[in-house]
Amino acid sequence: MISFKCQYVFTLACLLLPVCVLSSKKTELLNKNTFPEDFLFGVSTSAYQTEGGYNANGKGQSIWDYYTKKYPKKFHNSSNGNVACDSFKKFKEDVQLVKNLGVHFYRFSIAWSRILPDGFSHNVNKDGLRYYNDLINELLAKGIQPMVTMYHYDLPMTLQEIGGWTNPYLAYYFEDYARILYSYFGDRVKHWITLNGACPGYGDDVNPPFLNHSGIANYLCIHVTRLAHAKAYHLYDNEFRSLQKGKVGIVIEGNWYEAGSFAVEDIEAAERMREFKIGLYANPIFYVEGDYPLTVRQRVGNVSRQEGYLQSRLPIFSPPRSRICTGYNVKEDTSERTSVEKDMRVRLYQDDEWPKSGSNWLRVEPTGLRKALRWIRDKYEDPDIIITENGFSDKGETNDINRIKYYQKYLSSLLEAIHEDEVKVKAFAAWSLLDNFEWISGYSEKFGLYHVNFSDPKRKRTAKKSVEWYKNVITHRRIVDIKEISSRLKGDL
Ligand SMILES: *[C@@H]1O[C@H](CO)[C@@H](O)[C@H](O)[C@H]1NC(C)=O
Ligand SMILES: *[C@@H]1O[C@H](CO)[C@@H](O)[C@H](O)[C@H]1NC(C)=O
Ligand SMILES: *[C@@H]1O[C@H](CO)[C@@H](O)[C@H](O)[C@H]1NC(C)=O
Ligand SMILES: *[C@@H]1O[C@H](CO)[C@@H](O)[C@H](O)[C@H]1NC(C)=O
Repeated sequence: MISFKCQYVFTLACLLLPVCVLSSKKTELLNKNTFPEDFLFGVSTSAYQTEGGYNANGKGQSIWDYYTKKYPKKFHNSSNGNVACDSFKKFKEDVQLVKNLGVHFYRFSIAWSRILPDGFSHNVNKDGLRYYNDLINELLAKGIQPMVTMYHYDLPMTLQEIGGWTNPYLAYYFEDYARILYSYFGDRVKHWITLNGACPGYGDDVNPPFLNHSGIANYLCIHVTRLAHAKAYHLYDNEFRSLQKGKVGIVIEGNWYEAGSFAVEDIEAAERMREFKIGLYANPIFYVEGDYPLTVRQRVGNVSRQEGYLQSRLPIFSPPRSRICTGYNVKEDTSERTSVEKDMRVRLYQDDEWPKSGSNWLRVEPTGLRKALRWIRDKYEDPDIIITENGFSDKGETNDINRIKYYQKYLSSLLEAIHEDEVKVKAFAAWSLLDNFEWISGYSEKFGLYHVNFSDPKRKRTAKKSVEWYKNVITHRRIVDIKEISSRLKGDL
């Protein structure tokens, strides 16, 4: 059984409470090459990847602070985010760079350990509050809406020590953290994203926190983060929404998986892959039945039983906790270690013909975006969708024509989804504002619209060609050809 993966970096934050306002008549009138009038453009960063100031004024340690120090060799060039782009100090300059792009919103994340040094609510760091207050005020003063991610992989280390996202009580601590953020910033922040919702490092030994228990720890993490999102979402609903009138969403990371052939088993394998890679994360939140996809529950249950577990390794949402095996237990096929891959049973490949990027996991395959959006539209009752990250990595050249070409293709695919398929994509954010610390790849992969000189203590920023291009797209609300935008750019083609 074969399926393949059209891999690209996009994450979807499907905002809850979809409002159906688009009539089909309005769609007919729209020019197919332009973005709808209410469509919003933005640009994204995350705290650990850009801020630096890792031990500034009362900040606690996150898992990334801890592990980059403890196991430096696990990170490209033994690098870390201690200084990164130094946005902790240079935020005013960064807001000006955001302003220069002409975007409507800036998506950044708050470092949990900068607000709550050990993750718990008893000790609020004033300097952390001051920093994000200043950043939010600076954005609003320049007419840019803040879109705030509460958690982007930088868990406070103390919370990791008590099990991290395998510990169900983290959902309660996250709710406390969310309450603090709504209370201090909710008067001005109207777009909240609870979590960047994936679980790196729970089923692998590559990313912090290196738990490496595939088929167990990553299912627990998925479960507890869904509970955490639900708590923060309902907290807003019950206590803040009527006054603050904002929206709360979650990021679902998605790759598109296409069947490798028209054979039934390949088509089924591809759909199974989507259910494991998207449905597992999205169903509990967006699906009417509010549970994991049936095929995932059945497969993990069946494989767990074959392996001799008395209950499924995939947690269930509501008691009573039904045992998967009531009689005695027949163990089969125990030679192979427990893992999500074993539960899924698919083989993946990327087509060699897809253009490469600066990251070996990322190839350019834009039709996947449209298909993924359609899949989500059909599966989750046509929700409002925001694409919170989409970007291309290279070696950092400022004449970044390949990045522009990448965005042209993906935005075209997005326009098709909006106009042909009537998917309710409301906003798009480019990843990323700046070249930054790209997790375990360190500073070797550059996604920025602005170049950052990491050898320079001042971390000088320089606009790449894509800045002027993106700015033109936003101004004209359509995909401009690079050749149109300036003679300076034209000369380089
Ligand atoms: C992670 O788990 C795999 C599969 O069992 C194993 O081969 C690998 O050695 C583990 N890594 C570490 C660092 O223990
Ligand atoms: C799981 O096992 C049940 C009972 O043996 C079987 O009917 C079902 O088809 C299996 N489902 C999957 C997805 O393997
Ligand atoms: C890796 O480290 C070397 C030696 O310090 C340095 O010259 C190079 O720029 C670094 N590369 C990256 C991508 O950080
Ligand atoms: C980066 O900064 C260093 C140190 O200030 C400087 O020597 C180097 O020329 C700069 N590189 C670029 C590409 O500007």
